Amino acid sequence: MRTGLFRDIIYWFLLVPALLPAYAQEHKSYPPSVYPDRLVLGYQGNPATSQSVNWRTDSTVTGAVGAVAEADPSPDFVKKAATVPAQTQRVVLDGRTVLYHTVQFSNLKPNTQYAYRVGDGTHWTEWFHFTTAQDSPAPFSFIYFGDAQNDIRSLWSRAIRGAYSNLPKAKLMIHAGDLINTSNTDWQWAEWFEAGGWINGMIPTLAAPGNHEYFKPENGPRRVSMHWRPSFVLPENGPERLKETAYYLDYQGVRFVALDSQGALLDSTLLKTQADWLDRTLADNPNRWTVVVHHHPIYSTAKGRDNKEWRAAMEPLYKKHKVDLVLQGHDHTYARGLNMPLGKSRKYPDGPVYVVSVSGPKMYDLGLQDWMDRAASNTQLYQIISIDGNRLSYQSFTVTGERYDAFELTKDGRGRNVLADTSPALAPERLDLPAEYRNRYKEADLEEYNRRFREYKARKQGK
Ligand SMILES: [Fe+2]
Repeated sequence: MRTGLFRDIIYWFLLVPALLPAYAQEHKSYPPSVYPDRLVLGYQGNPATSQSVNWRTDSTVTGAVGAVAEADPSPDFVKKAATVPAQTQRVVLDGRTVLYHTVQFSNLKPNTQYAYRVGDGTHWTEWFHFTTAQDSPAPFSFIYFGDAQNDIRSLWSRAIRGAYSNLPKAKLMIHAGDLINTSNTDWQWAEWFEAGGWINGMIPTLAAPGNHEYFKPENGPRRVSMHWRPSFVLPENGPERLKETAYYLDYQGVRFVALDSQGALLDSTLLKTQADWLDRTLADNPNRWTVVVHHHPIYSTAKGRDNKEWRAAMEPLYKKHKVDLVLQGHDHTYARGLNMPLGKSRKYPDGPVYVVSVSGPKMYDLGLQDWMDRAASNTQLYQIISIDGNRLSYQSFTVTGERYDAFELTKDGRGRNVLADTSPALAPERLDLPAEYRNRYKEADLEEYNRRFREYKARKQGK
């Protein structure tokens, strides 16, 4: 008995210090080396005939290259690989000089699987596979994430890895801003790239910046993170001052447009520039489907949060050019809905379907606004969207893999969208307040929340 007690004490002496690191706020250091890291796929040209890769190394590396060959089950493809020189950029980040490299593989065959690796001729990555797009409209699926932002390695990893496990054949991953919390903090970007790991080497990334990607330099106006342009390879077809933060990509019958809402909210010239550019870009759009992504929501999920200037500039253009779907973040809750008067049938949407989502662990309270048709609070999610001819199928999943929301848009003969809301067949909505808000809310706040909750439920039943 005494020996047992003694053993227990010794055990706890050893165990408690072992548990401490789980709660400490230390962050791993992520120094670069001669070996490539932070690898990510993106685009500088036509996705049917080209593919770009971006990566980081330490400052000693010279002669960065990519090697590419048609993929083959026999490892002999390695001997056939063509070597392509990369473009290298020297950047000082967090006081450290690092190199970022970009290689563009071009003259590729459409709808073909390729193997590639990058390095300096001696220090290589493993061989990855990617598949080029088809050169005409064809069915495909893509993934969309709301804000990752906090505890990226610890808790956002399950979002990107869950999404990949659910749909490894996804053709694109779209991030709606606030990928990290503090614009220029290297370890946060390191965590973002660690969470995605080799998935980023297999599925191309499209990202739009959020307010947390912006910082204030000592001299001069706020600008996008010093990591943004070096870290990603994104189309440079947007407005001059918004290269790689506003752009479009045509993929198998869908025009994807990324907008820089934070740039626009900080500078009214950039709001106007983007609106004019969007008007032109959508006026000349041969694709059947149009998906827009930006950080700040046109309609907020929260009470008291509103982006009026952004909405005033953009929403009329979405209606004018029949944008189908708008993917957004920023509000740290989930909602999907339409801007249509209450009581009017939502079967024929008068404008795009709007979605706000969150993939990381930072959670706000939900406003239960009138535009919403399905909502969630305190829930990490990712979305899978599939396009097949005249049908767009949308699904939202919790990071634990449950289908949380679903709808379909079908284009009729006149190009008008018909909405089928398939969410009523799913599990009840998760609308409880995050614990932090439950504790912070005063009684009057709680009453107000419960009142809005009852109104929201009543509205949905009457719909
Ligand atoms: Fe944000």
